[in-house]
Amino acid sequence: MTVHSITTSPFADQRPGTSGLRKRTTVFQQTHYLENFVQALLDVASLPPDATLVVGGDGRFHNREATETIIRMAAGNGITHVIVGRAGLLSTPAASHLIRSGAHGGIILSASHNPGGPNGDFGIKYNTGNGGPAPESFTNEVAERARVIQQYTIADLPPFNLDDLGTQQIGPLRLEVVDPVSAYAALMESLFDFDAISGLFASGFRMRFDAMHAITGPYAVEILERRLGALSGTVINRVPLPDFGGGHPDPNLTYAHDLVEELFGSDAPDFGAASDGDGDRNMILGQRFFVTPSDSLAVLAANATLVPGYARGLAGVARSMPTSAAVDAVAESLGIPCFETPTGWKFFGNLLDAGRITLCGEESFGTGSDHVREKDGLWAVLFWLNIVAERGQTVEAIVREHWARFGRNYYTRYDYEGVPTEAANDVMAHLRAQFATLPGTVVASRRVRSADDFSYTDPVDGSVSENQGIRVLFDDDARIVFRLSGTGTEGATIRLYIESRETDATRLGMDTSVALAELVTTALSMSDLVGRTGRREPTVIT
Ligand code: G6P
Ligand code: ZN
Repeated sequence: MTVHSITTSPFADQRPGTSGLRKRTTVFQQTHYLENFVQALLDVASLPPDATLVVGGDGRFHNREATETIIRMAAGNGITHVIVGRAGLLSTPAASHLIRSGAHGGIILSASHNPGGPNGDFGIKYNTGNGGPAPESFTNEVAERARVIQQYTIADLPPFNLDDLGTQQIGPLRLEVVDPVSAYAALMESLFDFDAISGLFASGFRMRFDAMHAITGPYAVEILERRLGALSGTVINRVPLPDFGGGHPDPNLTYAHDLVEELFGSDAPDFGAASDGDGDRNMILGQRFFVTPSDSLAVLAANATLVPGYARGLAGVARSMPTSAAVDAVAESLGIPCFETPTGWKFFGNLLDAGRITLCGEESFGTGSDHVREKDGLWAVLFWLNIVAERGQTVEAIVREHWARFGRNYYTRYDYEGVPTEAANDVMAHLRAQFATLPGTVVASRRVRSADDFSYTDPVDGSVSENQGIRVLFDDDARIVFRLSGTGTEGATIRLYIESRETDATRLGMDTSVALAELVTTALSMSDLVGRTGRREPTVIT
């Protein structure tokens, strides 16, 4: 094995965002671009010589080439053991599980729910030995390193085979090609009552799972159809494609249209679900019924003891700041702590590692637990199926009962994508300029309690993350939140999150858009968003 040191020069844009480095595929295809960033990751990780590294991705265009390059660079940097999913494929939660089963870290190739293909997006991130996304201290160091990088190291390896399972010894490198699904499927069997869920399917319960031509197809077919006996054809768009069939692999009401059409149609199955490009997001639907991700987290928390893996109860729960406070009410009734973190799964890592929380979730269709250190799409689906099997009720009935018991947090999110960065910053500055004057004022018959930039002090390591979104809080627990997305690749995305809390039993069944109409108007006028961006309508409403 010959090792080469290649001279390179830095790229100015290699700063990881909310979840790793995400750029247009063409950006990643520039000479040395991927290599520079991987070298920066490996430099900061400074793994011991006997380290095991997990590598895999969501199968989008450029996945295989990038996987092969990373394996050569790992070998060049003295790593002697690489575990890779067959064909370079691993869902993000499955990668997290593999890392936790004895590796020192992993490199995951994905741009999550962003479209893929030559004109789509690509991404890369590093996960540490706990299986979770590297913390901000790490990603900041990577950005610093990438800014000054002058060379990278890569090994000349003879051709290797990523398509057959087994171990290949290539010089000092042991390359282990593993089945992407089996260890993950076994983990799911250890957490959920597969007999109860099989019984549900055997009794005629009908489900549709939309894999959106992304990574979860093979996982869902194995678990839902083969192991749990769901009807063959339950999983649609099951074949992973490098461009996701031209779709946008984001499981929400806008992009999972095949599924939404069916679940809201006249012959709707009992249960619908979808996952995203890399398998960590989920959307849950009942018959003609949408479960908001915030409500989903709250329902899972309230019903956790029905599920074998959580039968002993929860240590605590956490949600990101913009996520609705539905789970807070459950935590209060259970007498367990509830943490409010910034957006980004990495902020849950310390709490999970320290055993302070068992479940966590975000409004952005992410839910997870201490079983891995990523959010987990199929896990959430199985959790719901387990609850439905135990309670013998429909999804809608479960959610309505939940509202009746804990109150309902009406919730919506408006996304304004591709806004010029200056205009987006201007909106945020305009809001900040009102921090001093807003508190105490009455808008739309609500009194503003406080207005600020959310700042988070990690209760485990004391690190502080500032400017994590603008919050306007009202006396009746309604909230307006503005944030700039950290995952976009073009211009800026303004996210506007609106929430109001209702405990009056006669007002729990309203249409969300009606319940929140006044707050939306308030948010738009307070921010002067239309005037400052020229955007009359959001790109996506969820
Ligand atoms: C990714 C992260 C999530 C985050 C989401 C939205 O999926 O893993 O933790 O909530 O992106 O982030 P954004 O910055 O675009 O709102
Ligand atoms: Zn994802």
